[in-house]
Amino acid sequence: MQIRDKVVVVTGGGNGIGRALCRRFAAEGARAVVVADRKSADAEAVAKEISGIALPTDVAEEAAVKQLVQRVIQQHGAIDLFCSNAGLGVAGGSEASDSDWQRSWEVNVMAHVYAARAVLPAMLARGEGYLLQTVSAAGLLTQIGSAPYSVTKHAALGFAEWIAITHGDQGIKVSALCPMGVRTNMLFEAQFAGGAFLLETAVEPERVADDVIKGLAEERFLILPHSEVAEFFRRKANDYDRWIKGMRKLQASTQVLQPSGR
Ligand SMILES: NC(=O)c1ccc[n+]([C@@H]2O[C@H](COP(=O)([O-])OP(=O)(O)OC[C@H]3O[C@@H](n4cnc5c(N)ncnc54)[C@H](O)[C@@H]3O)[C@@H](O)[C@H]2O)c1
Repeated sequence: MQIRDKVVVVTGGGNGIGRALCRRFAAEGARAVVVADRKSADAEAVAKEISGIALPTDVAEEAAVKQLVQRVIQQHGAIDLFCSNAGLGVAGGSEASDSDWQRSWEVNVMAHVYAARAVLPAMLARGEGYLLQTVSAAGLLTQIGSAPYSVTKHAALGFAEWIAITHGDQGIKVSALCPMGVRTNMLFEAQFAGGAFLLETAVEPERVADDVIKGLAEERFLILPHSEVAEFFRRKANDYDRWIKGMRKLQASTQVLQPSGR
């Protein structure tokens, strides 16, 4: 897909990767870029900068996602590309609170389901449409220090795969964006405890946006801003036990990020 003249929605567009995507889509000549974010001031700031449209939305609420989609279709006729990008990271394992698990489930998984429910009927009727799902390398591998993030990103990737398989022949394209560290607030927030190793290879959100433009142009399912992720994924598939041993070593050598890490 080429972005020129397309109607694009980006959730979590007020900051980080989503903001970089909004800026890049505008620069590519999108007909409309809709910045949807829970934080309305951030959504409005980005929309103002790119002459886009801010629609404050909490993607964890199905009614809000439905309303977002209806408003964009009413105003612009169709949605060509819907980017389910909003996400959150919390630290911890099985002991993490139920509310952290639940919130991760709602934002990292159900928001993608709500978006698909809302956009797919019109896309299927037109016989075309594109979903970009921001997942994470944690959906292919795992996130050291966060079980809720690892589990929900695996689920998000599973859902993306399922849509690509089920609706691909009906004209629906899907890409799953799976970066390792990206220099955004999420990476630097202490509660995410992602590990210093992510910082070493972290890329700027603008780099991720470049890779998204290329990945969409090639209509590739996996968009991997860190090419080594493909190799790690291959190693995992080739020898799961060896891969788990390697991840244990990585965990042992990992430091938890401090708030001053930026
Ligand atoms: N930063 C990384 O290292 C990294 C790596 C891999 C994947 N990701 C994924 O990239 C996506 C974007 O993260 P980011 O790094 O840009 O983080 P960020 O914190 O910079 O931006 C996230 C944006 O999403 C918004 N948001 C959060 N919950 C929302 C909700 N319920 N409804 C609407 N908006 C909401 C926030 O207000 C914020 O503007 C996430 O899905 C994240 O899991 C990030």
